[in-house]
Parts: sequence; structure tokens; C-alpha cells
Amino acid sequence: MKTLQVALEDRSYDIVIGQGIISQAAEYILKVCKPQRIMVVTDTTVASLHLPALQASLAATGLPVQVVSFAPGEGSKSLKSVEKLYTEAFAFGMTRTDLVIALGGGVIGDLTGFFAATLLRGVPFVQIPTTLLSQVDSSVGGKTGVNVPAGKNLVGSFYQPKLVLIDTDTLQTLSDAIFSDGMAEVIKYGCIVSEKLFEALLQAGSRRGVEAMLEDVIYACCDAKRQVVEEDELDTGRRMILNFGHTMGHVIEKAYNFQKYTHGQAVAYGMILAARLGEKLSVTAEGTAERITEILEKYHLPTDISLTGDWQKTILLDKKMQGKDLSCVLISKLGTSIVHKMPAEEFVTEIESIL
Ligand code: GLY
Repeated sequence: MKTLQVALEDRSYDIVIGQGIISQAAEYILKVCKPQRIMVVTDTTVASLHLPALQASLAATGLPVQVVSFAPGEGSKSLKSVEKLYTEAFAFGMTRTDLVIALGGGVIGDLTGFFAATLLRGVPFVQIPTTLLSQVDSSVGGKTGVNVPAGKNLVGSFYQPKLVLIDTDTLQTLSDAIFSDGMAEVIKYGCIVSEKLFEALLQAGSRRGVEAMLEDVIYACCDAKRQVVEEDELDTGRRMILNFGHTMGHVIEKAYNFQKYTHGQAVAYGMILAARLGEKLSVTAEGTAERITEILEKYHLPTDISLTGDWQKTILLDKKMQGKDLSCVLISKLGTSIVHKMPAEEFVTEIESIL
């Protein structure tokens, strides 16, 4: 069992990482809040796998528990789902001192966080992430939100959870493809803040290798994210480094209509492109793109994706655009990242030359 504290003054909270921790959820939760009723938001797949253990733990509190399940997938991250949650919450009698729990991956965490942030102008919530990607990234740091027709994550708020409970046992139920998807974000932390983590992952070389040191790997990623969030909670500067590989990653996801490549797969190739761009601009040490390619291959992530159509326009919608300039996240070497501002037009020309 490992614990980390995200120190954000009155919004501080613990991240507890351990095997089978869902079955002790109530114990940890009652240390940080004293609700009269609890709403659990999940999806139908996660509900069938992990809800019984959570319910068994919550039953010991004697409090009324209401479960709301959505269909798995990005389609549930919508304002329609938030509206359904408001209706359920008012029917259940939720008040400002009650509790909302997100049990699931990134979609459920983001949706539930946004719901909790806006219900009665803010109700405490706890994240219990069940995918690798949500355990190392989206459950920590307070970014919540939903998708709207204009784009992904365009409506949301910063709203920190009261607690993050990471049960590493939940990862056993993930398919290899979903595990690999999360590995892209794990490898990202190695690239941006920890050469030591990068080397350890390279040496582990496979899902089984990572599983042998899972708690340490998740701890290292959450610790890296904690430091960045503490420095820049509202994403106005340093937090941008968490977007390494994401500018071209989003372009790829959009170019394929969010159908062909998962977020992690798209970010994987995005990281290679960011490293190649950095090398071309003499910002990144030579050979870095090659090393990133090597590690991604070990985790069955794509290292070449063809881009056609007018993908260039997507760059202009990037949240890191400021006027005509784009803030690109580059690495000077493995484990050291920088934000490099350049005209978006030049970025596009350079990327076209290295595709
Ligand atoms: N996932 C990027 C961030 O939390 O800032």
C-alpha cells in the first residue's frame, strides 16, 4: 500500500494505491467526509466486475447508496448524462454534504467529476479509477468535463476529488489492448519527467514485466502528476508538459474520427513526432525519437500512422494555441521537458516534413 498527498491547500487530498483497496473503500472515505447518502456512478462493464466489492464495503456504513450506470464508452460523456445524474440526485435527496463516487475509467471519472462540481455548486467526490490510463492520469488533478458537438472536453471545470483510491487489482480485468492504451501515458511520464522510469519500463519490456512492479509504476506516475498539478493546478503553464505527444495525438484521433486509434495509440505516435520535431529544431537530443520508438514497440503501440486529409486545421483548435502561436511540448532529453512556442504555420510545415 502506498499513499501520496496532492498538496493544494484546502483542496488537498490523498492518492492511495494498493491491491484490493476497493474492499476497504468505506474506511478510507469516512476519514475524509461524513455523508448521509452516497451516489455511485459507473458503467455497466465496470459494474459487473467491481461494483459488488464497493457495495459490500459501503454496506458496512449503513448509509443509503444509489448506483447510476451508463453504457461504456465516450458516448456517455455528455451533457445528457449529466442531466440524468441531476435528476437521479434530486430524486435521491442529495445535499451538499453527501458524496459522489466515480467508479470506472476516464469517461466515468470526467463525467462524474463535472456532475459533482456543478450539483448544488459542488458536492464532495471520490475517484476510484479502474483503468491504467485513469489511474495514472485522469483521476488525479481535478480536470473534469464532458464532450459537446464542437469537440471533446470542451465543457468542464477544475474540481479536485476528496480522495483517489487506486486498486491495482482492477487492471487484471483489462484486455491487452486497453492495458497498452494506458501504457502510452505511463511512457509519457518517463519521457517528460523521469529517465529512470523510462529505463525501468524499457527493461520491463512487456505487460507482465510492468505488472511485476505495478504499484511502483503507478506511484511514480501519480507522483509526477502530483508535482505538476501542485505547481500549476489551473493549467496555465507547467501543466502543459502533460500534453507531450497530445497535439498530434488529437490530430490523429480526429483524422480517424475517433474510431480507428485509441487515445493512447494516437498519443504514442504523437510522442514520436514531437521527438522528431525537437530533433529537427535542435531542441531534443539526437536519437531520442528512436528510443521512444523502441519502447513503444515493446508495448505494442503504433510507431507509424499515415495522415491524410486536411488534418492541419485541427491544430488551430488546440488548447495550447495563443494567437497564431502554438505552445509545443518538447523534450530536451528523456526525462526533461520544455514548452516551445512557435508559429502554428511553421509547426505544420515542420510536421509535414517528418511524417
Ligand atoms: N491529462 C492532462 C492534465 O491533467 O493536465
